Amino acid sequence: MAFITLLLALLAAAGGSQAVTVYGQQPIATETTSYAPGATYTGLAAYDPRILDPPPLPDPLPPSQFGIQLSASASNVQGLSIPLSGAFFGFSVEMSVVTQVIGLNGSFIHPPFLNLMALVAERAGRVHVRVGGNTQDTARLVQSLEDGKAIEKQKVDTNNPTQTPALLYTPEILYLLSNISSLVNVKWYLGVPLNDTSELHLEIAEWGERILGENLLGLQVGNEPDLYQRHGHRPEGYGPYDYFGEFGQVLDTMRSMNLKSTSNLIGPSVATGDWRPEDVWNTGFIQAYSDSLAALTVERYPDDNCAAIYQGFGEPVDPQVAFPRYLNHTAGSSTIALYLNSTNIAQQAGFPGISTSFGAALWAIDYGLQMGYSNFSNALLHVGGQNVYYNPFTAPPTNESSYHQWTVGPIFYSVLAVAETLGSSNNSQLIDLQANGGNIFTPGYAVYENGNLARLALLNFMTDPSGANDYTATIAVGGGESGQPNGTPAQVKVKYLRAPSVGDKWNVTWGGQTLGGQFEADGRLQGELDIQTVQCDQNANTCEVKVPAPGFALVFMSDDAMQGSEPASTATFATTAITKAKNTVTVDPEVLATSNGHKGMKGRYGSTSAGSNAAPRAVGAYPSAMALLAVVMGAAVVRRAVVRNV
Ligand SMILES: *[C@@H]1O[C@H](CO)[C@@H](O)[C@H](O)[C@H]1NC(C)=O
Ligand SMILES: *[C@@H]1O[C@H](CO)[C@@H](O)[C@H](O)[C@H]1NC(C)=O
Ligand SMILES: *[C@@H]1O[C@H](CO)[C@@H](O)[C@H](O)[C@H]1NC(C)=O
Ligand SMILES: *[C@@H]1O[C@H](CO)[C@@H](O)[C@H](O)[C@H]1NC(C)=O
Ligand SMILES: *[C@@H]1O[C@H](CO)[C@@H](O)[C@H](O)[C@H]1NC(C)=O
Ligand SMILES: *[C@@H]1O[C@H](CO)[C@@H](O)[C@H](O)[C@H]1NC(C)=O
Ligand SMILES: *[C@@H]1O[C@H](CO)[C@@H](O)[C@H](O)[C@H]1NC(C)=O
Ligand SMILES: *[C@@H]1O[C@H](CO)[C@@H](O)[C@H](O)[C@H]1NC(C)=O
Ligand SMILES: *[C@@H]1O[C@H](CO)[C@@H](O)[C@H](O)[C@H]1NC(C)=O
Repeated sequence: MAFITLLLALLAAAGGSQAVTVYGQQPIATETTSYAPGATYTGLAAYDPRILDPPPLPDPLPPSQFGIQLSASASNVQGLSIPLSGAFFGFSVEMSVVTQVIGLNGSFIHPPFLNLMALVAERAGRVHVRVGGNTQDTARLVQSLEDGKAIEKQKVDTNNPTQTPALLYTPEILYLLSNISSLVNVKWYLGVPLNDTSELHLEIAEWGERILGENLLGLQVGNEPDLYQRHGHRPEGYGPYDYFGEFGQVLDTMRSMNLKSTSNLIGPSVATGDWRPEDVWNTGFIQAYSDSLAALTVERYPDDNCAAIYQGFGEPVDPQVAFPRYLNHTAGSSTIALYLNSTNIAQQAGFPGISTSFGAALWAIDYGLQMGYSNFSNALLHVGGQNVYYNPFTAPPTNESSYHQWTVGPIFYSVLAVAETLGSSNNSQLIDLQANGGNIFTPGYAVYENGNLARLALLNFMTDPSGANDYTATIAVGGGESGQPNGTPAQVKVKYLRAPSVGDKWNVTWGGQTLGGQFEADGRLQGELDIQTVQCDQNANTCEVKVPAPGFALVFMSDDAMQGSEPASTATFATTAITKAKNTVTVDPEVLATSNGHKGMKGRYGSTSAGSNAAPRAVGAYPSAMALLAVVMGAAVVRRAVVRNV
């Protein structure tokens, strides 16, 4: 399923430039699920129906039968990752879209959001969500807004190349988050504004810790500071030492306010654009602030396709052409290579790991597991607005919310799959098996939990409906030449993530269950859970597990390993926390219409990322590029590395 996710991610993603939230009303989505060849999709990116073709099968084809020799105990395995938590994958919600996806105020929470978070929390124990992003730097907490609104966008700042509208919000937003945590175990990161260090605004730190208490995981100081100068937020010459100094200013001010969060800061959140993480480490950042840092963070956009939607970015990339780049094991590992030095440095500094975020769907599973194996500790998938293609989930267009439900993208399934792969013990270690002779289309990982072999994660990136490229992995635990006793269990359980093609968007199932197609999701899994039992041959010490093309298989090596990740029951929220319920999505369209950027923004275009503030070019001028973006977006999705100080 990995690929499924992938592709879904792609599809879902179709779009914009990296992590862009565009504040301009485009034609709204319709219920069309496809459009004629040559026709152009002009609706919101998040609802683009384009489906990509799967790439051709690789030549030569990978062997369709291969063995995986495992040790029962972690003590015999070299190169295992640091201990990881099932909450590895979390979400990053752009501050400006909080009312779209999270809720309007403390007593008006969107039930699909609660349901989706509950799905993850029941597998992983908890969910990490960052509220922040490019909009955080100019956001400001005020005590009240007119009409009792909880959030309001100000005019576009014309001095700001990304034209991210400044946001004003009230403590009500923090009550919203806090009320959510009382229903589902969600822990929050908040972004501290850093646009003007001569006049710091740390109200969010003060009120954040007061209202969220233990549910506040950390405060992010600055977002992508390596791009501040390029975007005109800082004068020429602004460098890593300047950020180092500003971080210190924030810390000093927080100390003078007697805030507790001074030990929970996260940074530097470099975009790995104009600086490398090492540029910041070389300033002595970690040593100087080790008492205050809860995590080290990096963000990265591996690629973008701004050209597809905005003028002045050269030739758009055809997503169909770029698709194969995301459908093999090299995609994740090559991007992560850039950070291996940093994950090492983080560990030496007493940090157990670093995490980053970026990735889409199937690719997101492989990428997430590869990050985990490389000692990242968390990764957050970004949720932008309806104008982006990479959302794990998207609320319906504001004026259609009374009859449409949410749209859950394939990437969301990869979050569930990774949560279950790692389980709820906080103590899972990963090894990349270099399966099938290291073939890049059939990667696999083993998970050791509390020191014992617990689960296997096997991917097949190929698409072949004939079944000829499904593969069979013959698993052996101990025995043979390993010198260890035979340890293959009598049977294993297997849960599949499947879709008909890597290009498919809506026919994704995880353990036979689905969250529905476009506008169909209320955040609850539908259908019967299907977990298959595979009988092993204990005399031969083998277990044969089939992995479809395309597909992801999660193999539970014991019942304990399954209980450690499968939820016993799922809490769901239908009309809870809703003021007015017609169906499970109870957003008042009028309220939302005035709260998410549609008001007073006519004809203006802003975005939260660099260089993406131009007016959209004639939409659809290069429709295929959208999907590509999606892939790329997928990449952009995960953005941030977190090193947690345990
Ligand atoms: C929603 O708003 C868009 C843009 O204003 C409009 O094109 C669309 O027809 C509206 N949909 C409905 C169902 O009113
Ligand atoms: C929350 O928002 C709903 C919908 O706009 C509104 O009816 C309600 O009065 C708000 N509650 C508070 C406490 O502001
Ligand atoms: C949620 O937050 C509001 C503040 O708007 C508070 O008055 C209310 O008691 C909270 N509700 C719950 C269920 O905790
Ligand atoms: C920082 O952002 C606020 C908006 O929240 C704005 O009023 C202020 O002018 C900005 N300061 C600078 C130096 O850009
Ligand atoms: C790793 O980072 C350290 C500290 O910035 C630097 O001195 C060293 O050259 C880096 N090593 C590699 C292989 O990039
Ligand atoms: C595998 O992925 C890498 C990284 O994206 C890409 O450069 C390479 O072309 C892909 N290989 C194949 C055979 O598609
Ligand atoms: C991850 O950290 C462990 C423990 O420090 C180390 O043995 C392993 O080599 C690291 N993995 C990578 C890919 O750097
Ligand atoms: C996992 O870690 C979290 C955060 O530190 C903690 O709250 C939770 O109890 C831990 N779970 C287990 C099973 O130890
Ligand atoms: C995918 O789902 C759609 C809509 O439910 C359905 O029409 C289509 O036949 C499915 N495609 C496949 C290949 O199963």
